[in-house]
Amino acid sequence: NELNKMNIAIVGTGYVGLVTGTCFAETGVDVTCVDVNADKIANLQKGIIPIYEPGLEDMVLRNVKAGRLHFTTSLESCLDNVDIVFSAVGTPPDEDGSADLRYVLEVARTIGANMKKYTLVVTKSTVPVGTARKVKAAIREELEKRGESIDFDVASNPEFLKEGNAIDDFMSPDRVVVGVESERAKKLMTKLYKPFMLVNFRVIFMDIPSAEMTKYAANSMLATRISFMNDIANLCELVGADVNMVRDGIGSDSRIGRKFLYPGCGYGGSCFPKDVKALIKTAEQNGYSMQVLKAVEDVNENQKGILFEKLVKVFNGDLKGKTVALWGLAFKPGTDDMREAPALVLIEKLKQSGCNVRAYDPAAMDESRRRIGESVYYAHDMYDAALDADALILVTEWKEFRLPTWGVIKKAMKQPVVLDGRNIYDGDELQEMGFVYHCIGR
Ligand code: UGA
Repeated sequence: NELNKMNIAIVGTGYVGLVTGTCFAETGVDVTCVDVNADKIANLQKGIIPIYEPGLEDMVLRNVKAGRLHFTTSLESCLDNVDIVFSAVGTPPDEDGSADLRYVLEVARTIGANMKKYTLVVTKSTVPVGTARKVKAAIREELEKRGESIDFDVASNPEFLKEGNAIDDFMSPDRVVVGVESERAKKLMTKLYKPFMLVNFRVIFMDIPSAEMTKYAANSMLATRISFMNDIANLCELVGADVNMVRDGIGSDSRIGRKFLYPGCGYGGSCFPKDVKALIKTAEQNGYSMQVLKAVEDVNENQKGILFEKLVKVFNGDLKGKTVALWGLAFKPGTDDMREAPALVLIEKLKQSGCNVRAYDPAAMDESRRRIGESVYYAHDMYDAALDADALILVTEWKEFRLPTWGVIKKAMKQPVVLDGRNIYDGDELQEMGFVYHCIGR
């Protein structure tokens, strides 16, 4: 009914769930966020946000205050009121790299066992093609156990948020992809996304397997661009070309475009590495081999070691006892996330070679402590990190690293060596100041 206020539930208050729930609440929808983790829910009720995401905290507090955003540990208790349940629970990789659907199917069974009226069950977690079918079967099975025949639909609505930019991505997306198999589901999803239509984007409706596939294809394509550019950058170094110019040269072809063509020290994060692996796996299970993606993975593994190799060259293999300043620990700026972060690979190699590491990151220091303890020295700021260092390595291109006072850095360091893993500095300027400077692909 068009006159009724929309009520939705989001299961899983991780990164995707919390951003999704909060942004929908912002449009006036009544949102209940559900999580089995009681501490997390208790904290959220007190306004304590479990993740670092620019703008999220304000938005959560505002919507809680307005009475549109609620937190609970009980999915059962909110099923009576909601039209749509989004499932945004985790799908951690199995030992063999395929997504573990345990939580996704658990949510489906809870819904099947407790729903009392028509419900649209939307999967937002990144799940392999065919998962919606399993969700549907699980709900149906639970309904049959109860001897009920309540109508329901499943849908797939993959998420394309970038960490650090999630609110903007959600509020003004390039597109929203929705896989449905009934008119009723399509109508509900159209209504829910209507407030966003004002900013000129499309909801692309398609069948469910295509929507599931779109998510993996998008991330795999982006990962492919990065590995391709890393390959080109490495070759540029060998033939005396400058990858910055090559990027500009090819990016101006509108068929190629300028975005996601930045070489660096490898892609990390919770998505690209996992999704590339999962798609390779899905192909295998279907008797097909994703040759390109296998190469994308290999190149990325190699690229995570590239800064270390450059360091070895600078010091002719003699790294024992050297002090290395490390700027950036998070897998990218704007987040404290260190999953699959290139910095972790670098630190491991540096420690193995007998280096002392002085690390600084604007957001990820606590996360780093959790992961690798005190195996590195955590500096007070970027200048403290450079103190007595034989080399400084930029790993994550945080804005505050962009314009250092090089005079101060040079005085602080033992040897003026800078390795720029993201090509953000002016090499000529640094060399004029007496620094040894290396970057990627030039
Ligand atoms: C990525 C996608 O960009 C999102 O669209 C998607 O929703 C998300 O995964 C997901 O599946 O949930 P995210 O992992 O947050 O988002 O981060 P990105 O900004 O895409 O960066 C990924 C990695 O690629 C970073 O390590 C970054 O440093 C690296 N990168 C990115 C490059 O090395 N070069 C580039 O040109 C761009």
